[in-house]
Amino acid sequence: MASNLRRPLLAGNWKMNLTLAQSVELAKLVAGGANSASGEVAVFVPATAITVVGEILKGTGVRLGAQNGHFEASGAYTGEISMPMIADAGCAMVLIGHSERRKLFGDTDAWINKKLGAALKAGLTPVVCVGETLEERESQKTWRVLETQVAEGLKGFAPADLAKVVIAYEPVWAIGTGKTATPAQAQEAHLFIRAQLKKIHGDGFAAGTRILYGGSVTAENVDSLMAQADVDGALVGGASLKKDFLRIMGFQKA
Ligand code: 13P
Repeated sequence: MASNLRRPLLAGNWKMNLTLAQSVELAKLVAGGANSASGEVAVFVPATAITVVGEILKGTGVRLGAQNGHFEASGAYTGEISMPMIADAGCAMVLIGHSERRKLFGDTDAWINKKLGAALKAGLTPVVCVGETLEERESQKTWRVLETQVAEGLKGFAPADLAKVVIAYEPVWAIGTGKTATPAQAQEAHLFIRAQLKKIHGDGFAAGTRILYGGSVTAENVDSLMAQADVDGALVGGASLKKDFLRIMGFQKA
């Protein structure tokens, strides 16, 4: 479990799912469970649902987030939405560099770094996602990949700029596969990432930054993951679309 500096964060990433009616229904379910949550709660919703879900979450303490944003504030970027637009629509948070964005939509570390700057400028809390593929893990490249993604993603900012930043460790092989990292594997990677944060801005920064685990988190495995010293929360895909998310929000301290 996290130190007192790091309030647990239980976040749902709805990805490209749900109609508006379904989004409203799920948002009401999450809002209803907010009081009994074991930490802070956030939902990353499709852009089309931001405003309706925002209405439902008002006053509940559940934080609203977008799943991606462009690094330019405005302009001729058909199909994109910008960080100021995301903030204007009522979001407090944004995911940056999710592995699906990296793999399917060409997000590079350089872009992620620019998106981070844009998110901070817009007053959003960025959740920067990192993680290795199965091939990288099997060829012993995990640490090199994580080191590069963290260093390049966070490059060029002062510690004060990064005070709000959250990191999400999402091993690509664990996403949507039902193959969760073991609590020991998650802890090992989180500890490594925290050491990278220390290299960038020192002990205080490393000790105060939340690192979430994502990849096949379920109602059944959340407690054992959250029991790890450097796991400060969960970023949940599939299980965040179901009632199970309420159980994840109310994880039990081991
Ligand atoms: P799953 O929980 O469906 O594996 O997805 C994880 C994820 O990608 C969250 O961002």
